[in-house]
Amino acid sequence: MAFRARHLLGIEPLQPLEITTVLDLAERYVELNRRTVKQSDALAGMTQINMFFEASTRTQSSFEIAGKRLGADVMNMSVAQSSVKKGETLIDTALTLNAMHPDLLVVRHPSSGAVNLLAQKVDCAVLNAGDGRHEHPTQALLDALTIRRAKGRIQRLTIAICGDIAHSRVARSNLILLGKMENRLRLIGPPTLMPAGVADLGAEVYDDMREGLKGADVVMMLRLQKERMDGGFVPSMREYYHRFGLDAEKLSHAAPDAIVMHPGPMNRGVEIDGDLADDINRSVIQDQVEMGVAVRMACMDLLARNLRRERGRKIAETLV
Ligand code: NCD
Repeated sequence: MAFRARHLLGIEPLQPLEITTVLDLAERYVELNRRTVKQSDALAGMTQINMFFEASTRTQSSFEIAGKRLGADVMNMSVAQSSVKKGETLIDTALTLNAMHPDLLVVRHPSSGAVNLLAQKVDCAVLNAGDGRHEHPTQALLDALTIRRAKGRIQRLTIAICGDIAHSRVARSNLILLGKMENRLRLIGPPTLMPAGVADLGAEVYDDMREGLKGADVVMMLRLQKERMDGGFVPSMREYYHRFGLDAEKLSHAAPDAIVMHPGPMNRGVEIDGDLADDINRSVIQDQVEMGVAVRMACMDLLARNLRRERGRKIAETLV
């Protein structure tokens, strides 16, 4: 099996073969999820804890459903009612939970790097569900699966990632993944929303939607991350929509069969026109949600296999 990682902290350390291993296994879970009885025993007997230190609807529910369909005992730690509110540090919280012997820990945190730090302190497999502006690996993997199913491949495509690149872990993880798979990448957005060092990201950079979208096979829109801004990044929402919001006219500059993606949650009328988001002939936004459950099942299944192998090895060592 070509997936040897202990944790899933980001796309950065993954080889192309590991990425396709996840996607191929996820295809099998897409089939399972479409059946009436959606039950596997890949995580039977295992405990999964979801720790979300930032708001989430789809990612948290997706990980919860994924774990339950694989037969794990799933616990959602409610941060609002936890000792975090009493000032406990992230590491203390993690060590407390670690002592309860979870097998998988799914963590979302507002600070970039927090999940990597936590992974060094615990005995279980850690999955990054988004850390600050750093990475959101399962989002990039579910986007890759959505693209592969719509376009029949995940190589040699022209992919435009549009909007608030600077604050987006989704953009970062996607850029890394799609770059590893040898696609042509374009970033489109106002210069104020481009990250420092954008020239080194291996993408062409545009501040004009019509120009940047020309001939694109995939148009990936991003939410304007107002919670990560301290003012002054965009003149007004109306102005932003006018220049960077995706509507049918701007999309007409992309390839005739271009697909439209958005990780959600969407700001309709800010980064995307509501009717276009709902247009099932162009938008694959609901497919992304469906692929999300399957990809998370695949990731947790693969990490659980590695965990079992590692524990088996340790037991064997104590016997000799
Ligand atoms: C993204 C996130 O949290 O980074 N959402 C998600 O996981 N579906 C994107 C966003 O919040 O805009």
